[in-house]
Amino acid sequence: MQIKRVGVLGCGLMGSGIAQVSAAAGFDTTVLEVEQKFLDKGFAGIEKSLAKFAERPPEKGGITSRQKDEIRARLDGTTRKEDLVDCDIIIEAIIENVPTKKEMYAALDGIVKKDAIFASNTSSISITELMTATKRPERFIGLHFFNPVPLMKLVEVVRTIATASDVYETAYDFAKKLGKVPVRASDKTGFIVNRLLVPYLLDAIRAYEEGAGSIEDIDSAMKLGCGYPMGPFTLLDFVGLDTTYYITHVMYDEFKERRFASPPLLKRLVMAGWYGRKTGKGFYDYSDPNNPKPNKL
Ligand SMILES: NC(=O)c1ccc[n+]([C@@H]2O[C@H](COP(=O)([O-])OP(=O)(O)OC[C@H]3O[C@@H](n4cnc5c(N)ncnc54)[C@H](O)[C@@H]3O)[C@@H](O)[C@H]2O)c1
Repeated sequence: MQIKRVGVLGCGLMGSGIAQVSAAAGFDTTVLEVEQKFLDKGFAGIEKSLAKFAERPPEKGGITSRQKDEIRARLDGTTRKEDLVDCDIIIEAIIENVPTKKEMYAALDGIVKKDAIFASNTSSISITELMTATKRPERFIGLHFFNPVPLMKLVEVVRTIATASDVYETAYDFAKKLGKVPVRASDKTGFIVNRLLVPYLLDAIRAYEEGAGSIEDIDSAMKLGCGYPMGPFTLLDFVGLDTTYYITHVMYDEFKERRFASPPLLKRLVMAGWYGRKTGKGFYDYSDPNNPKPNKL
């Protein structure tokens, strides 16, 4: 099976990035949103990102202004599900909510051509559960991209027990065509990266709660001691504490292990609305975004 037309659901942080890399890889790409204003916002983000790529030299992934226009011409936005009828693959990146996602899949199942592949970018919801909203379980997979999509190389290609092998291999090759490095994962909560990363981040919070070190020192220690590009608290603020808190619930519910349970401090920060960078406050204060200061917690 050949993929030519790509449909992306949601033009938020992830959907806009996925649409951008899809169009940049030469695929005609249509993005579906609930309202035009969300398309406008997502496309403005794509424009900004493409402009940055246009400033880079070709050896660093840079593009010419002509290539930028060509990418833009392959991208299309819509608020009508019917406009996705001809897509060969649908990549869903709408809000992390089971009923909303299932409702969307059920509606599209009756519209999009029968042999199209359905993929979800969910970080924590079971692909198997989402698949049950459709009559095409063998054509349903997970394609888990990382933020920011145009820069992060990894895609976890997730199979369920029902996924057909040819569908899986088509999706795996498609991820390569997007310029990504795919890894094979099965539908186990958290897939590979979050299964290992989430307990580490939660342990960093517990270490801080227990007085092992300050926020800044724990960040510096993990950066310089392990060669990580950023420390755990900087990363937590970047990912979003609300998102992390939500994921801990899904993972704890699945495994019932303490290492996946939210530490009390994470809950307190989320209850206070301190979600990290996006709200200007989390483990750090971003009043001066170029010089974050650790909060006294
Ligand atoms: N943020 C991350 O770092 C990250 C990383 C990997 C995977 N994900 C996953 O990607 C998905 C999207 O996350 P995000 O961070 O881009 O969220 P986001 O809130 O930035 O974007 C979600 C978009 O979906 C749109 N939307 C909501 N309901 C819709 C519907 N019924 N039809 C069409 N569009 C709809 C919203 O208007 C919004 O623009 C989630 O499943 C999340 O778990 C997120």
